[in-house]
Amino acid sequence: MTTSPTVFRLASRLDEIGFSDIVNIRNRIMKLREQGAKVYQFEGGEPYMNTPDFVKEAMKRALDENKTRYAPSSGIPELRAAIADKLRTKNNIAAEPNDVMIMNGGMQGLFGAFQSVVNPGEEVLVFSPYWTPIKDLIAHCEGRPVLVPTALARAEGFEKTLTRYTTDRTRAIYYNTPQNPTGVVFTRDEARAVARFAREKDLIVLADEAYEDLVYDGEHCSIASLEGMFERTITIFTLSKSFAMTGWRLGYTVAAEPWMTGMRKTTLYSSNGVSTPTQWAALAAFTTESDMLETNRVAYQQRRDLLLAGLNELGLSCENPAGAFYAFPDVSRVSRDSREAAEILLDRAQVATVPGVVFGPDGESHLRFSFSTSIETIEAGLDSLRRNL
Ligand SMILES: Cc1ncc(COP(=O)(O)O)c(C=O)c1O
Repeated sequence: MTTSPTVFRLASRLDEIGFSDIVNIRNRIMKLREQGAKVYQFEGGEPYMNTPDFVKEAMKRALDENKTRYAPSSGIPELRAAIADKLRTKNNIAAEPNDVMIMNGGMQGLFGAFQSVVNPGEEVLVFSPYWTPIKDLIAHCEGRPVLVPTALARAEGFEKTLTRYTTDRTRAIYYNTPQNPTGVVFTRDEARAVARFAREKDLIVLADEAYEDLVYDGEHCSIASLEGMFERTITIFTLSKSFAMTGWRLGYTVAAEPWMTGMRKTTLYSSNGVSTPTQWAALAAFTTESDMLETNRVAYQQRRDLLLAGLNELGLSCENPAGAFYAFPDVSRVSRDSREAAEILLDRAQVATVPGVVFGPDGESHLRFSFSTSIETIEAGLDSLRRNL
């Protein structure tokens, strides 16, 4: 039998989809550690603390009670109802349980949302620097990300900047607050300006609120809570950051029709829902009285203040991130090429970071430092930078 050379070829729809650059950095760190080096790790993207006991206990109970069979693909009704409650009281989003879908992390929520909205050839406005996977999620729809510099929008006004990047192919806005990688938290007035623009131009908003519980300055405002926005917004949430549950893969989306139908379809034919015991454990996250969210927020803020003071003192000037757990200093004094700057910090001071250019061209000359780590690591990392940079 003869096979043509095209047989062992990946389907073309995956041609434009990349892999995360961050994996390459992790490999370098592993290598350094194998050689016995101590590496101060600031490159990560997950909470440093463990999942709360009340969630773990609920998981054990679910297993003991044999809650291990197929659940509805959209999620167990108890969890959807608890989340709708949370959305109404905390986010001011007028959601009913039927507007909520349980997802395998924020990532599956984002995947379903983009797939449900973006047609081939359509454009999505993306505030930039942006979280890297967004461009690949849009590419998977054969759409095109159009980068809108956040700093420019904040300086000259959202309406003016967004207008400049809008064409007759523009379909949606990806709106992430608090932002990865910059820690920017859009104000209520900024949310209003984006909402007004979306209504005027008849655009759909994909709101990524993965870091909603990590706000240090100002407030978190869900854009779907603003007038006339619920029907044109898909909001994506996750328990990954708020409840230190990155490995559990539990997220959720809230949206109206027709978006719900789109997300039901993408979920049904990919994962067919989230693991049943995991959903029962997630229910405990929403129904257990605890001051965990506030305690963690205060702990992150302490780490932010420590890292920021150290970076600024080193001449790596950095605006105070109002949210999330990342600092994004300008490192031109080390190198304008952020990949080179990251190499220099790793080689000279054993400090691991992520080059800003990974988050798009507006991230060049910057590095992303996560302050989701121990106080000792932040102090030791800064000390190493002081001695070696
Ligand atoms: C901005 C942003 N959105 C969404 C996610 C998705 O998180 P997960 O898939 O773990 O829920 C992340 C994770 O790093 C993120 O940084």
